[in-house]
Amino acid sequence: MNHTYHDLVSQTFYFPQEGFGLEENTLLFHGIRLYDLLEKYGTPLKLVYLPKISDQIKKAKNYFDTAIFQLQYQGKYNYTYCTKSCHFRYVLEEVLKNDVHLETSSAFDIDLIWKLHSEGLVKKDKIIVNNGFKNDAYIRRICGMIQSDFTNIIPVMDNWEELDIFDNYLGEKQFNIGIRVATEEEPHFEFYTSRLGIRKSEIINYYYEKVATKPNVRLKMLHFFVDTGIKDNVYYWDELRKGIKTYCELKKVCPTLEAINIGGGLPIKNSLGFEYDYGYMILEIVRQIQDACDENNIPTPDIFTEFGKYTVGESGAHFFSVIGQKQQNDNECWYMVDNSLMNTLPDAWGINEHFILLPINHWDRDYKRVNIGGLSCDNSDYYNSEAHSNQVYLPAINKDEKLYLGFFHSGAYQDALSGYGGIKHCLLPSPKHVLIDRDPEGKLVDWVWANDQDSESMLKILGY
Ligand SMILES: Cc1ncc(COP(=O)(O)O)c(C=O)c1O
Repeated sequence: MNHTYHDLVSQTFYFPQEGFGLEENTLLFHGIRLYDLLEKYGTPLKLVYLPKISDQIKKAKNYFDTAIFQLQYQGKYNYTYCTKSCHFRYVLEEVLKNDVHLETSSAFDIDLIWKLHSEGLVKKDKIIVNNGFKNDAYIRRICGMIQSDFTNIIPVMDNWEELDIFDNYLGEKQFNIGIRVATEEEPHFEFYTSRLGIRKSEIINYYYEKVATKPNVRLKMLHFFVDTGIKDNVYYWDELRKGIKTYCELKKVCPTLEAINIGGGLPIKNSLGFEYDYGYMILEIVRQIQDACDENNIPTPDIFTEFGKYTVGESGAHFFSVIGQKQQNDNECWYMVDNSLMNTLPDAWGINEHFILLPINHWDRDYKRVNIGGLSCDNSDYYNSEAHSNQVYLPAINKDEKLYLGFFHSGAYQDALSGYGGIKHCLLPSPKHVLIDRDPEGKLVDWVWANDQDSESMLKILGY
């Protein structure tokens, strides 16, 4: 009977599969020989495979273009990258190779856009959507861009008061806006209606009272985001339909309205068993918008999305070494790794997010059930369940053997949430950060983006 880790994976999933393969019992990620890479750079390590970012964007654009062609939809698709999912410069550089727009969330995000502009990466006609409940610093900076003749800035109004503040700062200047509609939250959530956006029942009144009274303001976009993600379930389709219905009602009274923005939420692979029909979901979204517009005799809008996790999630991975084993009772064996999981993968702890967890070597060994323990002394610093099962299985090794582990598709949000390079729980440093790209001949090239955080930089923040 077979008991190897490789057998377990092959019997549970289609394997090898896109992005993952095996060579001499060690794991390949997009053709990268991870074992060699980890021997070269050591662990803990954060890795980003840059070509995946452009691949994802091209794939989504292709699905939308296919749907638009198939349905003869009269409106354009606009891929907008939501910077909050990963702000690193190398990500923005890769994203911007693909003729996309940008979405911002805060005052500093606008400074980031100015930096990109000063380096010629963002031109003044780029569409930039500004979301969020805006404080004064953020509003001032957005107005600064409008006054500096960025021609396609679209601040999305989150509440009744915001537009008056913009109007105050901008005087007679013409500018475009969007409105965000608050969606209903999923039934099991603590709140009924999202805190983000304006109540659906108030949208038309809001338009008459706040927008139509200002001749210099053009309402261009209706924004709604079902923040639990684009899923093929009744809740998602209901919320989408309600959002489209609001668009149709608003369009009848507001002729300048021309775009619908469905936000982010396109999922990524969080297990080797992940199945999602991207083509079907995108075709259905476009069809629903078209059908509703036809029924209401209004032109179909341009469609915007703000896919964050989808753009960068699958490009990233975190690697650790098992540095010790502890058998704490007859059933519970711990593999202790060389950094904190809470610090490096905060979503695993904060929102119970799953990543694809795979060993890098020893695929020919027996497997056993383990818990993975992080280095901090917090009892929540562990990982013990995968998306497809409430357990973690890994190769069984002797205490003196080397085992590398990888958490894959961790490229979105983790660094921003953990405060990359800042102070850390138990003062455990941010890991070394390595990038991989392909040269013009298609050969893999890797380099260090940043070394492990050193003690001096952390202690300096702390005032030492
Ligand atoms: C307004 C808005 N757009 C886009 C996103 C990106 O979502 P995701 O990363 O799930 O695609 C978010 C996430 O919070 C958001 O708030």
